[in-house]
Amino acid sequence: MVKDMPNKFSEVTPEIKELAKKCNKKIDEELFAKYDVKRGLRKRNGEGVLAGLTDISMINAYTMVDREIVPCEGKLYYRGIDIEDIVKGFIEEDRFGFEETAYLLLFGELPKKDQLKQFEGMLGEYRQLPTNFVRDIIMKAPSRDMMNTLARSVLTLFSYDDNASDISLPNVLRQCIQLIALFPVLSVYAYQAYNHYERGESLFIHLPDPELSTAENILHLLRPDSKYTKLEAKLLDMALVLHAEHGGGNNSTFTTHVVSSSGTDTYSAIAAALCSLKGPKHGGANIKVVQMFDDLKANVKDWSNEEEIREYLLKLLNKEAFDKAGLIYGMGHAVYSLSDPRSKILSRFVKQLSEEKGKEEEYQLYATVERLAKQVIGEKRKIYKGVSANIDFYSGFIYSMLGLPHQLYTPLFAIARIVGWSAHRMEELMNGNRIIRPAYKAVAPHREYTQIDER
Ligand SMILES: CC(C)(COP(=O)(O)OP(=O)(O)OC[C@H]1O[C@@H](n2cnc3c(N)ncnc32)[C@H](O)[C@@H]1OP(=O)(O)O)[C@@H](O)C(=O)NCCC(=O)NCCS
Repeated sequence: MVKDMPNKFSEVTPEIKELAKKCNKKIDEELFAKYDVKRGLRKRNGEGVLAGLTDISMINAYTMVDREIVPCEGKLYYRGIDIEDIVKGFIEEDRFGFEETAYLLLFGELPKKDQLKQFEGMLGEYRQLPTNFVRDIIMKAPSRDMMNTLARSVLTLFSYDDNASDISLPNVLRQCIQLIALFPVLSVYAYQAYNHYERGESLFIHLPDPELSTAENILHLLRPDSKYTKLEAKLLDMALVLHAEHGGGNNSTFTTHVVSSSGTDTYSAIAAALCSLKGPKHGGANIKVVQMFDDLKANVKDWSNEEEIREYLLKLLNKEAFDKAGLIYGMGHAVYSLSDPRSKILSRFVKQLSEEKGKEEEYQLYATVERLAKQVIGEKRKIYKGVSANIDFYSGFIYSMLGLPHQLYTPLFAIARIVGWSAHRMEELMNGNRIIRPAYKAVAPHREYTQIDER
């Protein structure tokens, strides 16, 4: 919405408030237990309901001992290769890793030199948006939420594609590679439009450079002077690698499976995945972490006083602080228990970066919160499997040290995860063969229809 317009559109009128009371009906909690509903598609012990098979990645968070789940340190494998080894591999060779990771996830093999070069060339070529797309679509109705603009841009690209609905594998692959190439451009331009039209700042539209990596292009497109350091680009590249894929059951990837199983087109499936990722319990958590820390800093006077920090964390859990959602953002995971391997990798680099940027005190605060939050969540919630910092705990802090705007935190997740969604969409189309359609048990008793005068 334009800033100064009286915004009737967003008003919740007293009439609506009254009607909302009729919607406020909760199903008896006991019925969920009675019918053994797998809430959140999870069993009581936290294990996910088996909904499919995947060849793309594997998450290890526990081992089974005598049919009992025993939590262990988290592990993540892309196409069978430990992400620790992937990260070590490209860092040791002083290369960017995101393009290699995308190739691995899409095609199941690590690329040889010439294959990687060809793939990077393809991404470079596909970073071109259709003529006037920026003017007609991105600049026309800027939103203050870049995930919203990104989803809208993806849906609109359908109209520019002469073969949009063809779900044969080569065509879907072509669309996926184009979207992987375009996500950085669409996200950063969405931010530039917002920054200009909503915040009155100067408008910068740099053209993508086909010679640059994905991470470098993001910084090049974003910064007015297009400048960045090698360390900045490498850290961003690593964050992209770690966000690229996470199994079939995470909310946005499962959304991709569900929507793809209906036979719909690539743009619709990916827009749905974006809408899922936006949620604060999923990809939207990284911005929530930074906002939560801003609130913590405003409310905790002495950052070295653990008792004061603990009290604030308890307030978060009791829905008395920050967004009153009862959550400590950046902590916990639907699958991981003792540790999230992605968070462990990021945290190593975060310490190094915080020293370079003179943010050691802030780093210490993050480390203290990480330690205390584990304890307070364990005390106040029923956690069967343990709780630890997830990838979002440190990613937002890294992005803030890189001077990236909050508005781009979740799109950065999307720029990486589009790779995983693409691989899973193709896997669903090749193997699914059936529309995904679980059951909901109806618990409302039958009633007579009454004529309107008799109600
Ligand atoms: C990711 C998340 C949704 C997983 O939830 P989950 O699958 O229900 O996880 P668990 O089974 O371990 O949770 C058990 C209980 O602990 C609670 N819990 C887990 N993480 C929590 C957190 N960070 N803050 C407060 N409570 C939390 C859950 O809400 C649940 O409580 P309930 O039984 O009263 O519903 C949850 O940890 C969360 O909301 N975290 C904060 C948001 C976040 O960082 N998301 C990014 C994920 S990468």
